[in-house]
Amino acid sequence: MQDVAGKVAVVTGGAGGIGRAMGEAFGAAGMKVVLADVQPEPLAKTVDELQGHGLNVIGVPTDVSVYESVTALRDAAVEAFGGVHVLCNNAGIGAGAEGPMWEHELRDWEWAIGVNVWGVIHGINAFVPGMIAGGEECHVVNTSSGNGGLSPLPSTPQYAATKAAVVTITECLYGQLAGTLVSASVLFPGPHMLRTGLFESWRSRPDRFAKTRPRQTPYTTVDALEEQMKAAGVPIAYTEPIEVATATLDAVRNDRFWIHPDNPRTDDALRQRTQSILDRSQPDSYLRAVPG
Ligand SMILES: NC(=O)c1ccc[n+]([C@@H]2O[C@H](COP(=O)([O-])OP(=O)(O)OC[C@H]3O[C@@H](n4cnc5c(N)ncnc54)[C@H](O)[C@@H]3O)[C@@H](O)[C@H]2O)c1
Repeated sequence: MQDVAGKVAVVTGGAGGIGRAMGEAFGAAGMKVVLADVQPEPLAKTVDELQGHGLNVIGVPTDVSVYESVTALRDAAVEAFGGVHVLCNNAGIGAGAEGPMWEHELRDWEWAIGVNVWGVIHGINAFVPGMIAGGEECHVVNTSSGNGGLSPLPSTPQYAATKAAVVTITECLYGQLAGTLVSASVLFPGPHMLRTGLFESWRSRPDRFAKTRPRQTPYTTVDALEEQMKAAGVPIAYTEPIEVATATLDAVRNDRFWIHPDNPRTDDALRQRTQSILDRSQPDSYLRAVPG
């Protein structure tokens, strides 16, 4: 879809972080943008700010883990702008579960699967039929992560498992869209970590996924993680959300499936994982050489 000006983009998780940056990049390219988020106040603030920069942006409070909420988002987008050409299933959470996974609350899994997996499935079911029927070029971008999407960090089972699912769902979607004008991409934000709200996902935890017992340890913050990385001698670098958003727009324009910036660390982990599968060897090199 080389010519994006005047086209309509819907971005979930659009109140902050990568989703907001997608709104900025798409809006600056002349697109009409619908930002959706489960946090209505930050969403309204972001929409105000982007409108203040002259961008054609509206906000629709949405919980992607609820199908009716996602169909209402689609209907609102169609009513406001007449159709949808680009859907970014970007909303995501880190469950922040503590301790070994056999002690994690089932609610941690339900919440992560609800947002990170069902959110993507809901988006596909709600939007893709209309995209195909519209007979115009359209594109779905699903946000995965190097963690899980390429190889898992054992310390974050919910996140890694759900982001692996996003890759497979998007591969199947791409395969099944053959012969239509709709395409798909999977996004691995990076190459480095982003200082976004992801470490404070607990702020957006819906009541029906509320924890069932009190937390024993504080949530990891991005600052605490930075300290751990420093202590382990890991070089610290950050990617800005706008870089990810710009790469996403470029991939939509040029129909590239893998939105995966060069990153020697995740490339190595993926290579080790693939080699371990092909060799039928124990996966210690990438699962036990890292903390957690
Ligand atoms: N930050 C990183 O380093 C990083 C790395 C890899 C992948 N990602 C992925 O990028 C995506 C965007 O994350 P981010 O880093 O911008 O974090 P973020 O927390 O800043 O943004 C995520 C947004 O999703 C919203 N959200 C949460 N639950 C929702 C729900 N049920 N319905 C609708 N919206 C909901 C949040 O309110 C938030 O505004 C996520 O899918 C995340 O997993 C982030």
